[in-house]
Amino acid sequence: MIKLENVYLSFGRKDVLKNVSLSVPEGKISALIGLSGVGKSTILKLIIGFLKPDKGKVYVEGIDITKMNERQLDKVRKSMGMAFQYSALFDYMTCGDNVAFGLRQHTKLKEKEIRKIVTEKLNLVGLEGVEHLYPSEISGGMRKRVGFARAIAYNPKIVLYDEPTSGLDPVMTTVLNNLIVKLNRELGVTSLVITHDIDSVFHFADTIAMLYEGEIVEESQASVFKNSPRPVVQQFIKGLEEGPIKVLRL
Ligand SMILES: Nc1ncnc2c1ncn2[C@@H]1O[C@H](COP(=O)(O)OP(=O)(O)OP(=O)(O)O)[C@@H](O)[C@H]1O
Ligand SMILES: [Mg+2]
Repeated sequence: MIKLENVYLSFGRKDVLKNVSLSVPEGKISALIGLSGVGKSTILKLIIGFLKPDKGKVYVEGIDITKMNERQLDKVRKSMGMAFQYSALFDYMTCGDNVAFGLRQHTKLKEKEIRKIVTEKLNLVGLEGVEHLYPSEISGGMRKRVGFARAIAYNPKIVLYDEPTSGLDPVMTTVLNNLIVKLNRELGVTSLVITHDIDSVFHFADTIAMLYEGEIVEESQASVFKNSPRPVVQQFIKGLEEGPIKVLRL
């Protein structure tokens, strides 16, 4: 469904991605994990075409999007929904208007139809009657869910989640991970989840990839990943201080 092939990307002198190849299979939940600042969000930005690689290809549904112009990219973006890191809701808009945003921008649907879709999507993520509330009036977990509803408003084929559970309590984390699974199954979408939630990732992800020093160092089925022989993978998933990952010791 999504494929990165030998992707390189630098910001100035900083080589962030150095020969990244990654596959996201159709209809499954794939997880991308890695240290903070390693380039995970950057990979999502490449997939939605906000960034272009210096070298390499990014395929979405079999088509290389790196050569596309903005108009072509807009079409591809319509098949994707993105739940952003930190929810990224518009504070000055109600939750309902946040979910409706893309529909108003990109469709000619009537207001009544838009409102119906908004309520339907909010219900799907377990929210009722929040249409008229502002993001500041709801909890962090609810804001994340509004972000999910906005991501699926357009009936995308692909849903990208950037750290959907960061900053939430363990119970809400489980609720949202289960919601990702539910949306994946019920909507039949392909899901890519960036997460630091190592404990849950083995339960909800079908495949896991780890990005380290600009490369994917392991990409496998969740059960295989857990037993990876690579020291860097074991250090990361177990949160060990000792190992190849250089950490600042106090
Ligand atoms: N537009 C940009 N210009 C310059 N540097 C950037 C830009 N975007 C990202 N970077 C740098 O690229 C690196 C990777 O950033 P990215 O946001 O992809 O990391 P991440 O893995 O998502 O981290 P986190 O887990 O903290 O969200 C960082 O060092 C960051 O400072
Ligand atoms: Mg990030």
